[in-house]
Amino acid sequence: MLDKVKKYIEEVDKFSSNSIEEIENFRIQYLGKNGIINDLFYSFKEIPPNEKKIFGIELNKLKKNIQSKINDQKLNIKNTKDDNKEIDLSLPATKFKSGTRHPISIVKNEIIEIFKNIGFILSNGPEIEDDWHNFTALNLPKDHPARDMQDTFFIQKNPDYLLRTHTSSVQVRYMEKNKETIKILSPGRVFRNESISARSHCIFHQIEGLCINNNTTFSDLKSCIYYFVKSFFGEYTKIRFRPSYFPFTEPSAEVDISCNICNGKGCNVCKYSGWVEILGCGMIDPNVLKNCEIDPIQKSGFAFGMGIERITMLKYQISDLRLFFENDIRFLNQFNLSI
Ligand code: DAH
Repeated sequence: MLDKVKKYIEEVDKFSSNSIEEIENFRIQYLGKNGIINDLFYSFKEIPPNEKKIFGIELNKLKKNIQSKINDQKLNIKNTKDDNKEIDLSLPATKFKSGTRHPISIVKNEIIEIFKNIGFILSNGPEIEDDWHNFTALNLPKDHPARDMQDTFFIQKNPDYLLRTHTSSVQVRYMEKNKETIKILSPGRVFRNESISARSHCIFHQIEGLCINNNTTFSDLKSCIYYFVKSFFGEYTKIRFRPSYFPFTEPSAEVDISCNICNGKGCNVCKYSGWVEILGCGMIDPNVLKNCEIDPIQKSGFAFGMGIERITMLKYQISDLRLFFENDIRFLNQFNLSI
């Protein structure tokens, strides 16, 4: 009987197959209900007592070998299958989905390129500002009524820290460090405590321009703005300067362009006037130059500031400002052609 078990052990050892069916038959042959192992256990009682121990050991060994043989053979089949997996090179490639640029970034970059062509360089400032750079140095001392125009998020009182209400603060930072010829453009995020609607938001973007030289004049400002408007909105766009008031410029103006939606005929975007306002500008007030330790007798300059949302709305004829901040993929995907 012991010899029989040893013979089975040898047989199991030799077994090898690539077929799941054959392996299953092998399993049934040995481990099935009426299989060899059960038979052998059944004949256990016929074994003479002095051989029982060694028979038991060999029988268990046989059972263990069968189980591991089955596992090994199955694993073998799985591995050869994976190795032989053929790659079909004619299948269409998985589409690579590239993201799209946000319309605000598209327009911001376009504006930067236009001003770069006439010598402007970029300069940035912090979004968390102190009172001096956002207001006081810009000729807006504490209690100046014009501060009311920019309802502010204060984040600390005394000394005052706030979220900048405009990018004009970068002018001050730059003038404090640079006293010679200046020609900078400062794009960035600004914040105002305003309720959110189709026309206003508490976060938006501006681009500020600052140009200072020995004898910069209002006509330099005008030619700069003309160049920008014609490059951005097209050669036939009409431009008008309207007198206005900003504490940091004197004289000050606001610039309107002929409505590019109705071509000046009148629509609800231009409120049937044929004109839309795009920026504020003016000659830098001597007080601002003095605050930044630049001599207003020696130097003069102009500045302008525009809202990027407004320009983008005009360019793409978008009627609700909130769309820029909602990140609705259906809205954003429309801009995937421009980089
Ligand atoms: N800072 C102004 C605002 O946010 C915009 C502005 C007007 C900027 C006139 C200027 C300027 O540089 O000269 O409303």
